[in-house]
Amino acid sequence: MSTNNKASPNKSHCHFIIFGATGNLVSEKLLPALYELDATGQLEPALRFVAFARREMSTAQWVESMQEMLAKKLPQPPAPAILEQLCARFDYVAGDYTSPAAYAEIKTLLGRTGDNCDSTVFYLAIPPNDFHEVITQLHNAGFSGVDNRHRIVVEKPFGEDIDSARRLNTHLHKYFSEEQIYRIDHYLGKETVQNLLVFRFANTLIEPIWNRNYIDHVQITVAENHGIEGRAGYYDHAGALRDMLQNHMMQLLSVVAMEPPAILDADALRDEKVKVLRSIRPIPKRGVNNFAFRAQYAAGHIDRAAVPAYSAEDGVAENSTTETFVAAKFYIDNWRWSGVPFYLRTGKRLAHKMSQISICFRHPPKQLFRETPVENLDPNWAILSLQPHEAMHLELHTKQPGLGMDIRTTKLVASYRKENEKGSDAYETLLLDIMEGDRSLFIRFDEVEWSWRVVDPILRHWSLDTEFIHTYPAGSWGPDEAARLFDSESHTWRNHL
Ligand code: BG6
Repeated sequence: MSTNNKASPNKSHCHFIIFGATGNLVSEKLLPALYELDATGQLEPALRFVAFARREMSTAQWVESMQEMLAKKLPQPPAPAILEQLCARFDYVAGDYTSPAAYAEIKTLLGRTGDNCDSTVFYLAIPPNDFHEVITQLHNAGFSGVDNRHRIVVEKPFGEDIDSARRLNTHLHKYFSEEQIYRIDHYLGKETVQNLLVFRFANTLIEPIWNRNYIDHVQITVAENHGIEGRAGYYDHAGALRDMLQNHMMQLLSVVAMEPPAILDADALRDEKVKVLRSIRPIPKRGVNNFAFRAQYAAGHIDRAAVPAYSAEDGVAENSTTETFVAAKFYIDNWRWSGVPFYLRTGKRLAHKMSQISICFRHPPKQLFRETPVENLDPNWAILSLQPHEAMHLELHTKQPGLGMDIRTTKLVASYRKENEKGSDAYETLLLDIMEGDRSLFIRFDEVEWSWRVVDPILRHWSLDTEFIHTYPAGSWGPDEAARLFDSESHTWRNHL
């Protein structure tokens, strides 16, 4: 995690080229983050952007569409002066990613703004299939080099399986040094994810119980209530396992399960995360169904509004068996976690948006309460809620007032943010880091590789079975069949804070 203090940023002039400018990532995440950064004075006055995409349009038309996107996406109407300032930073280039002419045009644009540019960032917000070609073209156009002036940002998923990830990495390294490569996983930019480290390692009372002696099982849930939002072209090929589990969720699992690093340094943290990934028990080829479950949303209701099935979304292939829901079980075979199941679950069109890590502690011995009305003592839970609630909850049992021995659950809540405190969105943090050349929140290749290793048996198994997929109504918590992964009848999905 970043050990930088963002209060005194060390900025440098730079050009920022966004490949795939008309895509969903740009409208959903990058533009709103850039607006916030500009509004808070964090973008250098000389910073210029080039929006590059296949769609034919002029810079004026791009600016117009950018204004529309921001108006839709920002929580408040954009301030006209900031909007004008941000839009004035942009040029738009239309072209094919495979055409050298487009890169020549970018070069001309960069030349026109003088020589005050210390670095140029190439942000690949494009479908993974286009990565190879764009990397080659960047090199051919003279944008690689070894002096670290050029930085390349690769969005996830990094590859589509372990082999393609290795090929992509080799290809990148042909033209760029490791210091120039930024493999992004925006979950690491979330403040609440960074807070997990503080929760674990800055509180003396947590660490001694954070192991198999006290913890019964761990659940990691990233639930979304929206659908694929016009991204069928990418999503129908990727599915939830590649889109969310291999990257965001494996990162969460590593942060929850890792050993304390010797120092709070990016590489020391990465080393510890890799140790966790390496300790995950390989899923046996013949037993995949005991460890992973997939499903796809059928028509249903979200916030009382009817929504279509995944199979009826624009651009989804007929009879597609792409999963929009995945649940998986992992064991981390090390001294700390041996025997503790980690259940991971993510899905689109679920009941509501909720990302949380739920830690279920072991049952206390009941004998003390044998002769009292307390029959079923619930276990204690620690809930590390990342979004939309940003808080840690610890559930404790307390006696109810009165003569009898009745027990109720009381929550101790540690909110991440106080009223009126404003944090940074993950993309704001990460974009600033890229501009400043700080790679500490970005992923090292061995993390990517080991995550692929873990999920590869699941991918292979599912790729052989393209006939059938379970479904769940949009607006539900996924199919009941996902419960088949549980080791014990007492385990159930925790769907609330
Ligand atoms: C992206 C996935 O990486 O993360 C999307 O491609 C997903 O499918 C998104 O919706 C979730 O991010 P967040 O920050 O909204 O939890």
